[in-house]
Amino acid sequence: MNKVLVLDFGSQYTQLIARKVRELGVYSEIFPFDTPLARIREEAPKALILSGGPRSVYEKGAPLVSAEIFRLGIPVLGICYGVQLMARLLGGKVVPSSRREYGFARLDVRDRSGLLKGIKSKGQVWMSHGDRVEDVPPRFTITGRTANTRAAVLEAPGQGCYGVQFHPEVIHTHQGRAILANFLFSAAGMKPDWSMKSFIRRKVAEIRQAVDGGRVICGLSGGVDSLVTSLLVHRAVGPSLTCVFVDNGVLRKGQYESLMEEFRTKLHLRVRGVDASAVFLRRLRGVVSPERKRKTIGRTFIEIFEAEARKVGRVDFLAQGTIYPDVIESAPVKGPSATIKSHHNVGGLPKGLRFKLIEPLRELFKDEVRTLAAELGVDRGFIAQHPFPGPGLAVRILGEVTPGRIAILREADAILLEEVRRARLYHKLWQAFAVLLPVRSVGVMGDQRTYHQVIVLRLVQSVDGMTADWYPAEAKTLSRISTRIVNEVQGVNRVVYDITTKPPATIEWE
Ligand code: XMP
Repeated sequence: MNKVLVLDFGSQYTQLIARKVRELGVYSEIFPFDTPLARIREEAPKALILSGGPRSVYEKGAPLVSAEIFRLGIPVLGICYGVQLMARLLGGKVVPSSRREYGFARLDVRDRSGLLKGIKSKGQVWMSHGDRVEDVPPRFTITGRTANTRAAVLEAPGQGCYGVQFHPEVIHTHQGRAILANFLFSAAGMKPDWSMKSFIRRKVAEIRQAVDGGRVICGLSGGVDSLVTSLLVHRAVGPSLTCVFVDNGVLRKGQYESLMEEFRTKLHLRVRGVDASAVFLRRLRGVVSPERKRKTIGRTFIEIFEAEARKVGRVDFLAQGTIYPDVIESAPVKGPSATIKSHHNVGGLPKGLRFKLIEPLRELFKDEVRTLAAELGVDRGFIAQHPFPGPGLAVRILGEVTPGRIAILREADAILLEEVRRARLYHKLWQAFAVLLPVRSVGVMGDQRTYHQVIVLRLVQSVDGMTADWYPAEAKTLSRISTRIVNEVQGVNRVVYDITTKPPATIEWE
């Protein structure tokens, strides 16, 4: 399989580069900029891409690489900081600009024989740089320029070196995809050979070989990652996989039943359903602090999971839904030893059990996991579901978590979701949920004074959960939700709308 390594110099777009390359059908991984050359050789990539980065190549402590990297015999594409580094290391000159160039520019194509094959002149490109290449290194030609940047595209095909000052990986560079494709398929001579179908084939074979007649266990969380993990392992080893799904008592209304139906009936997984709600609720009694709630739930889950694993008998492997963004931070290690390795370096797992780990999604981005889920027959509605925190409703019930308070929140939350779907808002939102406050407020119902609970509605939009905006829902939608909750949920006499962004608030209330 063809592989492209992206060396990361700290650009906010590094992940995007790898994703765009994969979208073009070539497998790509991100490595830290200081990865030793021997390690790079071991990976046997067909090409390298040097990412952008926030530093200046002349700055003290700037991330550098050895010029040897250009003599590995594989084509290298430098993007932004990457091209400046290439120019500097190969004998060109990089200078600081008096003004930082940030935003759109028009690309003037001078030569279409290489990187810019088929690229139209005057196309929009996205710039974000301070320094620029003043003199190109020997044997380089400038093939594209913009009004402010003379060396916007430089190429030395004889040396396999290519560079762009703008960002071809971002959507604002209109012909960026075509430029990346020219690098991969013309300059580096690769053929697209990465797709979800080929991934499934390869992973299933790998898992089958590794498990080699052993037994595998996998905890289902209700999310996409653990489900896709189970489905892949199931394809590989069938009945040798046992899944465990724990009802922790703080799931949404009907969630346990509908998930079990999806897992067992639709997807034919062998799932041990464990109703452990009584244990969880007992442990949560009197617990008010959000962190203690999380810890209590985490610890209890591990205990229950361990007990279930013992009931299954001899288990050799634990399958986990770790995905690529979880992995990139730590130094990426690859090969069979990473897909399956002893479990001491994973937090929050059963400690007493000596499982070997199977993490088939370690190489995938979240959107790739979703594509894979569809490929494996998971329902579209399930794939597009909003994120739901592991500690569930416990972190949406401020104050103590009691059966009575869970019942109130569940009903209010179910009404909210029903109305959000009715208003066709569900897929526009990152999350929509209700929160139960730890205070009561005065109201009047009929002729009676009431002193009841307050429900908060939280509807947010977000791209990745790191920042979020509250959603300006229509008054009639909010009004319907409020009226229904107050009328249908006993013990609630007031509904309020959360109009805070993240930051400074967080999405969840705890
Ligand atoms: P916050 O509240 O930090 O949440 O803005 C960001 C995203 O993370 C989810 N979240 C959690 N997910 N366990 C989880 O699995 C947790 O303890 C947890 N806390 C927050 C939250 O729902 C949002 O999507």
